[in-house]
Amino acid sequence: MPDGAFSIEAFSQHSFYKDVINRLVILTDLKPGQRVMDLGAGTGAVTRLLVEKVAGQAGSEVIAVEPSASALDIARRNLEGVGDAVVRFVQSKAEQLSDIVRKPLDAVLFCNAIHLVKEKARVVEEVCRSLRQGGVFSFNTTFFEGAEPPESQQFYKRWMLRALRLLKSRYDLSPTREKVEARHRLSEAQYDQLMLEHGFVVKSKEMLKVEMSLQSFEDISGYELWIRGVLPGIPLDVGAEVLKDAVDDAFEDLQLSSSPRNWLLMVASKV
Ligand SMILES: C[S@@+](CC[C@H](N)C(=O)[O-])C[C@H]1O[C@@H](n2cnc3c(N)ncnc32)[C@H](O)[C@@H]1O
Repeated sequence: MPDGAFSIEAFSQHSFYKDVINRLVILTDLKPGQRVMDLGAGTGAVTRLLVEKVAGQAGSEVIAVEPSASALDIARRNLEGVGDAVVRFVQSKAEQLSDIVRKPLDAVLFCNAIHLVKEKARVVEEVCRSLRQGGVFSFNTTFFEGAEPPESQQFYKRWMLRALRLLKSRYDLSPTREKVEARHRLSEAQYDQLMLEHGFVVKSKEMLKVEMSLQSFEDISGYELWIRGVLPGIPLDVGAEVLKDAVDDAFEDLQLSSSPRNWLLMVASKV
């Protein structure tokens, strides 16, 4: 597999994606000298922003935690020579967070990943244990109830219908019935409840509606977790090809120039 294949890297370069992450970092209100964690760091888009915020004072540290070794390698390369904060890269996952943290943190950011976690309560408890009192837990997600605005639903149906047809006609394949965790969606109220029940008070919450371009849908079509989510059981190269062609067809069928999607952003502090 070529380096970076099926990673989030291409998708994470889109300006709307960067805007959403930037907004979450602003809401988190970080200060130079703080010790923070980028949980589910992927290829390092958020890590870079955190370094920019906390660098420049003694004691600043950014811990990038990511289960995928290949994503972590790209993150390491992307962060080479950036800022003067100490950056530590750790291959691990949210469920084992408190094993990694030696000294309580000022903030944990979990961007575009909380929906991937099955035991959400356990993970929120792990985050709570890793923070100092008053420390901040911030996350965002576009896999919650209400992420797809009503006016986008026809597009998603058309995209998936086109993809299933192409998969059958070109490869005589159909996805399995497996339902990945991201398809078990929580509502905004359920995320509120999750925070309250596990030691946090919600400080701020925003819903951002972004317009996604055709290129961004083509890029997400090449991302491993998206392919596994929408076409479970299908080989990644086949899934990527079919999803890209199908999204081109769906845009053309419906004469679209973009499609809207909502992101939920939440910032909570440890009581
Ligand atoms: C969509 S990417 C987001 C990457 C980056 N945070 C961003 O916002 O661009 C989701 C990342 O979460 C990671 N992930 C999946 N399960 C995880 C878990 N249990 N704990 C921590 N990270 C996880 C994936 O490997 C992936 O890199």
